[in-house]
Amino acid sequence: MAELVHLEMRGDIAVITIDNPPVNPMSIAVCIGLAARFAEVSADDAVAGIVLTGAGRAFVAGADIREFGKPRPKDAPGLRDVAMQIENCDKPVVAAINGACAGGGLELALGCHYRLAAPNAQIGLPEVKLGLIPGAGGTQRLPRVIGPQSALDVIVKGDLLPAPKAAALGIVEDVIEGDLVAAAVAFAAKAAADGAQLPRSSKRTDLIGGAADEPALFDDYRKSIARRARGFEAPYHAIDLIEASTKLDFDAGMELEKKTAGITVASTQSAAQRYLFFAEREALKIPDVPRDTEVRDIKSAAIIGSGTMGGGIAMCFANAGIPVTVIDMEQGNLDKGLERVEGNYQVSAKRGSMAEADIAVRMGLINGSTDINDAGGADIVIEAVFEDIELKKTIFAQLDAIMGDGAILATNTSALDIDAIAAATKRPEAVIGTHFFSPANVMRLLENVRAAKTGNQAIATAMKLGRTLGKQPVLAGLCPGFIGNRILRVYFGQCDKLMFEGSYPDQIDKAIFDFGFAMGPFGVRDMAGLDIGYQARKAQGGSNERRYILTDKLCDAGRRGMKTGAGYYKYEDGSRTPIPDPEVNAMIDEISKDLGIERRPISDEEIVERIIFPMINEAANIVDEGIALRASDVDVTYVHGYGFPRYRGGLMFYADTVGLDKVLETMQRFETEEDGDAMAPAPLLAKLAKEGGSFTGQ
Ligand SMILES: NC(=O)c1ccc[n+]([C@@H]2O[C@H](COP(=O)([O-])OP(=O)(O)OC[C@H]3O[C@@H](n4cnc5c(N)ncnc54)[C@H](O)[C@@H]3O)[C@@H](O)[C@H]2O)c1
Repeated sequence: MAELVHLEMRGDIAVITIDNPPVNPMSIAVCIGLAARFAEVSADDAVAGIVLTGAGRAFVAGADIREFGKPRPKDAPGLRDVAMQIENCDKPVVAAINGACAGGGLELALGCHYRLAAPNAQIGLPEVKLGLIPGAGGTQRLPRVIGPQSALDVIVKGDLLPAPKAAALGIVEDVIEGDLVAAAVAFAAKAAADGAQLPRSSKRTDLIGGAADEPALFDDYRKSIARRARGFEAPYHAIDLIEASTKLDFDAGMELEKKTAGITVASTQSAAQRYLFFAEREALKIPDVPRDTEVRDIKSAAIIGSGTMGGGIAMCFANAGIPVTVIDMEQGNLDKGLERVEGNYQVSAKRGSMAEADIAVRMGLINGSTDINDAGGADIVIEAVFEDIELKKTIFAQLDAIMGDGAILATNTSALDIDAIAAATKRPEAVIGTHFFSPANVMRLLENVRAAKTGNQAIATAMKLGRTLGKQPVLAGLCPGFIGNRILRVYFGQCDKLMFEGSYPDQIDKAIFDFGFAMGPFGVRDMAGLDIGYQARKAQGGSNERRYILTDKLCDAGRRGMKTGAGYYKYEDGSRTPIPDPEVNAMIDEISKDLGIERRPISDEEIVERIIFPMINEAANIVDEGIALRASDVDVTYVHGYGFPRYRGGLMFYADTVGLDKVLETMQRFETEEDGDAMAPAPLLAKLAKEGGSFTGQ
């Protein structure tokens, strides 16, 4: 096993190199190798100092996630033992952080007496993002090295920091341009020659003593993350542990960290987040599209339609440094669209999330035009005009005539038949759905949609484009609503049913919010506007569909959602806080009566089951029909595009944690009590439940 950890002498300095490709994860074998090497050099009188570094582009990119939950060989040293062994070494040990230094990598480096970093190194403790806490001394050593306030930021946010930022915080002593290992060897030689007292992280108390003077530090921090971290357990465990580092001695702190690490590793939340980590990567793989499929290099883009979506999509390209032409048929709409884009950038600059000077750079990449011919030279054109199939067909016929050979012709339609759109061209293989979510510059999901004739190049290009734009791409097959909106239809349908049976919008919204969704359904609808399709329904004499009964009545009363100050809720001037409205509740009572429904109290638990289980059922059909390539793609879609709580892993993972037999039983009950066929258990659900199987292999 020692071959994973090399040893080389440079004069009297030992250079120990971790070589576990591709990114040197801290596996059990690496720990064993390190323990052996450090024992060897500690005992060797010819060694004056030690440098620890990584081979290739990483120092140590983290623990080996694939070893989680697997039994460790008895007596094998763990990372916490190795870090302690290094810290106790009586020769100076310098970490030469040559690249990614994450999680266990930083815990290892914190065991070293000194840390130097290459300029491109990325350093941090991202465990919280997987529902874990740093479990090898990170929560106890880092506060001692950089103080509790900075440690809170690093550990609870879990972001990787560029080397200069890590140096500014004091995580590393210096950033070295040029030969890092040579500099580290010189550093170790000097420390050895000076015979200076070695700084041992666990022994330091100079920065944590002051926390007692700031009793509110930790409570204030808990409050400050309350919104962002709602429902997540790991960030709060991390805060408790950093607080403990200021109150307990090191050994007691380590004991508590060990106990907490055990709790988080075994938690459903962490299992969910680790599952998603792999699911997000898996989603990029399309089994029948070969990996070496030629991808169109996207050097320029065109967007047709400068409305809500067109503007947001243009921002995505500009943010990625790709020039984009935005085309609208109406000069007025084009001007408004571009103004909105600039306004969004100004808000970002004001908030500090982008530099003021970048506004001009990004706006400089966006060109406006009212002439569709200006799309002609682009490598990809994305159509984002009104959701009208005839209009889209006309536009695609025009695009077919003007776009260059090999260009990708994409539509942002939410639900329309992309086969019909592709048929308007002579190159259906180049036509694909690229379904962005609103606001397109913010939402991470990109649901690419494969129509019957979409070619491999269009698919591979759209998937790669998603990554280039910083999105999470998922590939869906063609059916009304694709993956996401097809399930959403079930979601909204169940919400409406519950409303007419006895719940009011605020109760349903609260139950769904408490389940962990970012927002409840009625708040979402108020935000989107209730008048989508309203005029068209009116023109046809109104709709009898249950889901429009209340919406259209609200629109009749001028309540079109947040933008008019009232919808399902009322809103005070300029406020986005929904206020339940007795007037709306009275309208709902009236409709229930008209429908012959006797209203009854409905528990929050029933609300969640009646909404989530039918969504799971629909998702099972989507997987069974091959609309989603795999169950985990549904989960990635719902977490990144629909605000499903990440700590529950997504619909399918959640179903597995509930137990498929329970989901099936409940669906069978709904089938007899509710809408019969519409609630029929999905064949895949029934099959897996009977076999004792699962959707996600949990
Ligand atoms: N709004 C959303 O939340 C959302 C989310 C995902 C997908 N979509 C889809 O994106 C598309 C656009 O939606 P939106 O909300 O941005 O619409 P929008 O009404 O805000 O904007 C449409 C724009 O297209 C322009 N347009 C119409 N016909 C045109 C033509 N022939 N040539 C050039 N421009 C033309 C209009 O002037 C308008 O500016 C629709 O297919 C919609 O279903 C919308």
